[in-house]
Amino acid sequence: MTRTEARKRIESLSEEIRGHDHRYYVLNQPAIADAQYDRLMRELIGLEEQFPDLRSPDSPTQRVSGELRTAFQKTRHAGAMLSLDSLMTADELREFDGRVRKALEVETVAYVAEPKFDGLSVELVYEDGVFVRGSTRGDGEVGEDITANLRTIRALPLKLAGGGPGGSPRGLVAVRGEAIMPLSEFAALNRRLIEASDEPFANARNAAAGTVRQLDPKITASRRLDLFAYEVMRAEGVTLASQQAMLAALRGWGFHVETEIAVCAGLDQAIAFHERLRERRDRLPYEIDGVVIKVDRRDWQELLGVRSRSPRWAVAFKFPPREEVTRIVDIVVQVGRTGKLTPVAQLQPVDVSGVTVSRATLHNQDEVERKDVRVGDTVRVRRAGDVIPEVVEVLKDQRPRGTEPFQMPRKCPVCGARVDRVGAYHLCTNGLACPAQLAGHLEHFAARGAMDIVGLGGKTVRQLMEAGLLEDLADIYRLTPIDLAGLEGFAEKSIENLMAAIEASKRPKLDRFLFALGIEHVGGTVARLLADHYGGLDPLFEADEETLQEIHGIGPEVAESVRHFFSSARNRRVLDRLTQAGVRPVAEKRTKGPQPLAGQIVLFTGTLEQMTRPEAAKKAEAAGARVASGISKKVTLVVAGPGAGSKLDEAKKLGLSIVDEAGFLKRIGEA
Ligand code: IVH
Repeated sequence: MTRTEARKRIESLSEEIRGHDHRYYVLNQPAIADAQYDRLMRELIGLEEQFPDLRSPDSPTQRVSGELRTAFQKTRHAGAMLSLDSLMTADELREFDGRVRKALEVETVAYVAEPKFDGLSVELVYEDGVFVRGSTRGDGEVGEDITANLRTIRALPLKLAGGGPGGSPRGLVAVRGEAIMPLSEFAALNRRLIEASDEPFANARNAAAGTVRQLDPKITASRRLDLFAYEVMRAEGVTLASQQAMLAALRGWGFHVETEIAVCAGLDQAIAFHERLRERRDRLPYEIDGVVIKVDRRDWQELLGVRSRSPRWAVAFKFPPREEVTRIVDIVVQVGRTGKLTPVAQLQPVDVSGVTVSRATLHNQDEVERKDVRVGDTVRVRRAGDVIPEVVEVLKDQRPRGTEPFQMPRKCPVCGARVDRVGAYHLCTNGLACPAQLAGHLEHFAARGAMDIVGLGGKTVRQLMEAGLLEDLADIYRLTPIDLAGLEGFAEKSIENLMAAIEASKRPKLDRFLFALGIEHVGGTVARLLADHYGGLDPLFEADEETLQEIHGIGPEVAESVRHFFSSARNRRVLDRLTQAGVRPVAEKRTKGPQPLAGQIVLFTGTLEQMTRPEAAKKAEAAGARVASGISKKVTLVVAGPGAGSKLDEAKKLGLSIVDEAGFLKRIGEA
């Protein structure tokens, strides 16, 4: 490829990838399969390696770059980053509205109400449309340069697009927004931190701040932050007449802009928006701590001006706090499906932003020790979204006399078996002979997203276990109406319903069935990978760790766990009994783009010139093939490069189809 051709191709690839990033991270509407995206990305990386001087700083390949640092540089903002006055009541808000109307000498004022994101405020600077610098708010005038970290946030455009009322701005553009951590990512991150005996974050805001201020951009990249833009601080040559126009301009430039805002004809509508959002607060995917109410007209904003550090044209109307103070009445230890012991604080019930909280997780012994939580302590508790309430800290000065440090039990509180410590956790060693583990297992098996047996929740599972009706998963399918008839709470109709739900669960999709088995490290995603790859249960019995790891997305830990599960005699017995009971998982082919090599088994031998072996294997898999490591009659296609030796001879003897690298690329439609 000539330089000119390469430049053209790099430009068109970058454009295409940028479009896909925007669809995926901002609009939440992906248009292509991951494998296809990877293919574009790999082609771009390859071209940029070949022509390093054509690699531009706004290339999609340049999200994770920059070295480990020891400190952040200070940087002066393009404009002052103001803060907002906080109000707690509708009355205070009416006073604000009164002041605004009086100053403007008008009857009514139109406002824009936006969620108040609970994250880290950042300034983003673009020169001629290219992202050049990003910084924290700092003291409002000078912040810390966190450019390398912000680049890793996929919702942040490295190059401004040219749609909307903002057009394609030249010169300097400074945008303000909030870097946040979605609650699902926050929960996953804390789980990982606790597992590694590291300190978890107290809330999603601290997690976002800690991630954005990481000295190692690779760590920032590994945690998925999001970024919402809400203010154009400066844009040379662009006039925006209102806050609405400003948001539209930001959206046109490619930023993630919240769509759930309210354009309010007067203050009452803004108050109503605050109420609506407050009711929905727990169901939002990220944390907000109030509503920001802004005068819509920009000329009026200017007229109203700024008082010391905050504008007179905007206020934050906050939600009630997420934290409350209460007392620990007891600490009990729960045993989960995997045998993990979790200490749980029993609290004097307390209302935390509208929900009564009476229990809070303490995670594990390390956490209890770190916070030094004791029965009798007064503590600050916090709840956020659907996340389980947590003890934030102990108010030590209120500790009564004679409290004792908490100790995990040496024996399982449910079955009395020995407890082993593994890393940060204490585990019951009794496996499925421990009723708590069995109950967890059964409950997980029957749950939505797994076998989806409506009516077989935790309470019913325990009731059936106590009646001696459930000793393993397969027992579910041996239940009869007569078994259930004598039990409390089971009338004719509910028996009928449960029997029907059990019957209906006998043909689960393979991935759901694999998930339902509760194999360690096999969540929904891994279950889908396994189901897609193997298409049935039988091949999984034979799969060794090496072949499992050939699946893109499956690492050694998962492979170990899967192999371990399927090689256990006990598990095989349960699987046999499930089969006998008529449970037949069905494999469902997922549509993931064209699969020209579907069903083929490909062997690579000799040297490849245009790609590495792992790349080739990935391509083959993306095209639907399985990759073999040795020659056998099962192989359907041999890809032979220069230097191929005995395997090629063998393949010829067996009469297998043989192609060269170009032939392979042609078959997968990449020639
Ligand atoms: S506007 C001059 N809009 O809240 C107006 N701020 O307590 C500048 N915040 O530090 C701010 N969501 O980081 C604005 N939709 C939103 C916001 C928002 C969150 C933060 C902002 C500021 C803090 C003020």
